[in-house]
Amino acid sequence: MARPLAGVIDLDGGKSTPLARQLYEQLRSAIADGRLPQGDRLPSSRMLARQLDISRNTVSAAIDQLAAEGYLDVARGRRPAIAAGFVRLPVVPVAHGQPAAPARPRLSRWARRIGQSDWPFRYEGIPRPFAPGLADAREFPHDLWARCLRRAARNSHPRRRRGHNRLALQEALARHLVEHRGVRTEPRQIIVTPSAQATIELIARVTLDAGDIAWLESPGYGGARVALEAADAEVVGVPLDRSGLVLAKRKERPRLIFVTPSHQYPTGRLMPIDRRLELLRFARITGAALIEDDYDGEFHYDGQPVASLQGLDGTGRVFYVGTFSKAMLADIRVGYTVVPESLVETFEIAQRHTGQLVSETLQDALAEFMDDGAYAAHIRRMTRLYRGRRDRMVQALAAETRDAFVVEPPAGGMQLVARCRLRQDDRRLCTRLAEAGVTARPLSSHYIGKATERGLFLGFAAWTEKEIDIGARVIGRVCGR
Ligand SMILES: Cc1ncc(COP(=O)(O)O)c(C=O)c1O
Repeated sequence: MARPLAGVIDLDGGKSTPLARQLYEQLRSAIADGRLPQGDRLPSSRMLARQLDISRNTVSAAIDQLAAEGYLDVARGRRPAIAAGFVRLPVVPVAHGQPAAPARPRLSRWARRIGQSDWPFRYEGIPRPFAPGLADAREFPHDLWARCLRRAARNSHPRRRRGHNRLALQEALARHLVEHRGVRTEPRQIIVTPSAQATIELIARVTLDAGDIAWLESPGYGGARVALEAADAEVVGVPLDRSGLVLAKRKERPRLIFVTPSHQYPTGRLMPIDRRLELLRFARITGAALIEDDYDGEFHYDGQPVASLQGLDGTGRVFYVGTFSKAMLADIRVGYTVVPESLVETFEIAQRHTGQLVSETLQDALAEFMDDGAYAAHIRRMTRLYRGRRDRMVQALAAETRDAFVVEPPAGGMQLVARCRLRQDDRRLCTRLAEAGVTARPLSSHYIGKATERGLFLGFAAWTEKEIDIGARVIGRVCGR
């Protein structure tokens, strides 16, 4: 028997969706939810066209699509039949004429945790003083970079060798890291990824099993915590003294240790050579691997930078991590890691399986930017500029907030910590500052477990001296209330 389609099909010629598409969607949903039972037949296409007052071609297009997808059985000379044998979807209940909100898939423990936690930090909206971790995009040589991108795009085919880590960039980076950061590497040891964050996650996947212990500095970088927990590691916060991780009296045997020795995140302190050697000795004895995150190590203002941990290590247990998002622009989306020689192939495979690959065009453009000397020149110029901004920030905070904070000028990097002298709720203070137009992150939110100090974590690199003065005045006003 032909099914009457009244109440099932309601086409609207005024909609932008073509009539054939509307008919297809409405029939499909009526078949899927059982309003058109399996085995029943539709009217013939001629009849359907007449009933719905549309062309036969339109009906045929919808019927053919439904037949191709298995909803209808069609045979020459017979009316289309609703196909039998497929499992129906449960009907979504309708309340007050509105479909109920669709149930969302069950979330993993990790996803539930990142939804509830304020680390690394909640979305802060449009960047404004003193959002940390930002380079000043206004000072970037955009025209020069655009030329590199254009040339790389034009030359992007055909290529003989199609490795996902471009040799030209690996060579340029290796030269730079050996000369300026004291890293020991051959070009092929450099794995290019979309960011330092992606790199940390990749290293965690390659080196950790569920339940393995991973150490993180406390206070430390919340992004690393997120990445290590995604690998189901047991993340343990290790307290710091002025030199970095305090290793004495620790009983656990970590599988992985994450550190930021150039400028400890967030305190900005430099790990001196004796602590570096102690850490390497500890890693050797316990068999732990190390991640050395040198996220903003390019910017050093006072004295000589200390040689990288990776360069001091002779045993191939340090993963050196870097990123172009601080040295160039956040939007570049290129990071990298120098991996031990013995793990190059493993990382290349892991990279492919996790899709952590960077456009070859982008890599070639970066290689040219480095080979031409533009990268080194930009770092030199930004180092001068950021040094001046650091000094201005320290002076402005001292002038505007009098005794409220202790500020230790960092020897490098792009941000500083202003520690509260009095016991104060730094989260509440940051909320009040946000209302007054200034971004600051609470020092206490960087601890794993109980915070022992409170303060403001403030970025200075991306803001002009005038913006720094205005922002510091706001901090002074809010703290003075
Ligand atoms: C300590 C530290 N490591 C890594 C990163 C991540 O860098 P990327 O933007 O390349 O993921 C950041 C970003 O703020 C950082 O502060």
